[in-house]
Amino acid sequence: MKNVFIINHPVISHNLVTIRDKQYDCESFRTAMKRVSYALFLEATRFLPTKQIEIETPLCKTMHDDIDPDIEIILAPILRAGVAFCDVAQEILPTAKVQHLGMYRDEETLQPVWYYNKTFRIGEDPTKTHVLVLDPMLATGNSAYNAIKCYIDKGVPLENIVFVCLLAAPEGVKLLQDNFGDIKIITTHVDSHLNEKGYIVPGLGDAGDKIFNTRY
Ligand code: URA
Repeated sequence: MKNVFIINHPVISHNLVTIRDKQYDCESFRTAMKRVSYALFLEATRFLPTKQIEIETPLCKTMHDDIDPDIEIILAPILRAGVAFCDVAQEILPTAKVQHLGMYRDEETLQPVWYYNKTFRIGEDPTKTHVLVLDPMLATGNSAYNAIKCYIDKGVPLENIVFVCLLAAPEGVKLLQDNFGDIKIITTHVDSHLNEKGYIVPGLGDAGDKIFNTRY
């Protein structure tokens, strides 16, 4: 699949066992998710523009690549599960702005309903804005579509937007690709399908419940 970047690595597979298997508790889930998140965000930030700057090592002056200091980086976690990516994402990108996007899924229509996007705004030159939209699960793709569309409508070029998820369903990937062509999707796996309730199969269950320990 074009522009779907799947991180295939034994350490990721090992942590996906803990993430997927229902025998593990929430703490183990969060620890494994954190480990996988480092790999996801290193991959997701591969596309950021760089600029040569002068530095001085103990031996000499030299030119060196650095992330272009003139760009604005936005982390856009989709509430609530997307928040679980923020610690690692902010550690890797300490100057990034975090803009929470609140949508819940109507259980009948499976359509997202907005309830919060107060922090959503971008800098004066949208071509210098780079956005990482964060949600552990790319399921139907409806929330992801809404989130990405917010930034595109503000003039952020599609090539500056990356969608980061732990797991994806083919249905969600298709929705994003049908609407946004070459959108970049970073994930560890594209699973088999969605069930009738919109859950990814085999998946991991409800990501928010596992992260926040709200399984009853
Ligand atoms: N959201 C989840 O938490 N899990 C899924 O499988 C799909 C959407």
